[in-house]
Amino acid sequence: MQLAIPPLTEDLKRVLIDADTIRSRVDELAAEINRDYKDITEPLVIVGVLKGSVFFLTDLARKLRIPHIIDFIAISSYGKNGDKRGEVRFLMDTRESITDRHVLIVEDILDSGHTLAYLTQNFEARHPLSVKKAVFLDKPARHEVETEIHYKGFDIPDVWVVGYGLDYKEEYRTLPYIAEMIPKN
Ligand code: XMP
Ligand code: MG
Repeated sequence: MQLAIPPLTEDLKRVLIDADTIRSRVDELAAEINRDYKDITEPLVIVGVLKGSVFFLTDLARKLRIPHIIDFIAISSYGKNGDKRGEVRFLMDTRESITDRHVLIVEDILDSGHTLAYLTQNFEARHPLSVKKAVFLDKPARHEVETEIHYKGFDIPDVWVVGYGLDYKEEYRTLPYIAEMIPKN
């Protein structure tokens, strides 16, 4: 059965990435991860950053053929108004210890890079076997700090996007596509 695709509402300008394109790119990324981790003996710990990464993480993880477990963290980033840039506060940490384990952090989008740079440092300090990062989207024009990304879905221009986990004031997360948004306020 083909489900109806939710139509664009008036504050959504256009579909940037449709559901079929998302599906095939996620399949490609899963294939890369399956290849890269084919020899691991311990499960890969996949750590999703709530809430934006959940759709990407669950689609990706279900295509994996390597031993893996999933876990989540919740964080809040300080305001974008120049104060304390790049400071990240943990609201919820992983349940699993990541010490001596291979870790893959999964994020929805790389913007300034501060969040992932901070998380990488924080995770490295716990002495995992390795830390890699997967992001679904990247806005290269907005980078302020460089952080290595090992698996990336798509580069996008500097516009606000929603859908596939991404939100505007908590709305639109469950859209099956990525749309460009024009905030009214
Ligand atoms: P930094 O700047 O630390 O931030 O790389 C990454 C976080 O910024 C949010 N973000 C967005 N969220 N649509 C969203 O729904 C966007 O276009 C967007 N750009 C940045 C997001 O929370 C991400 O984790
Ligand atoms: Mg986020």
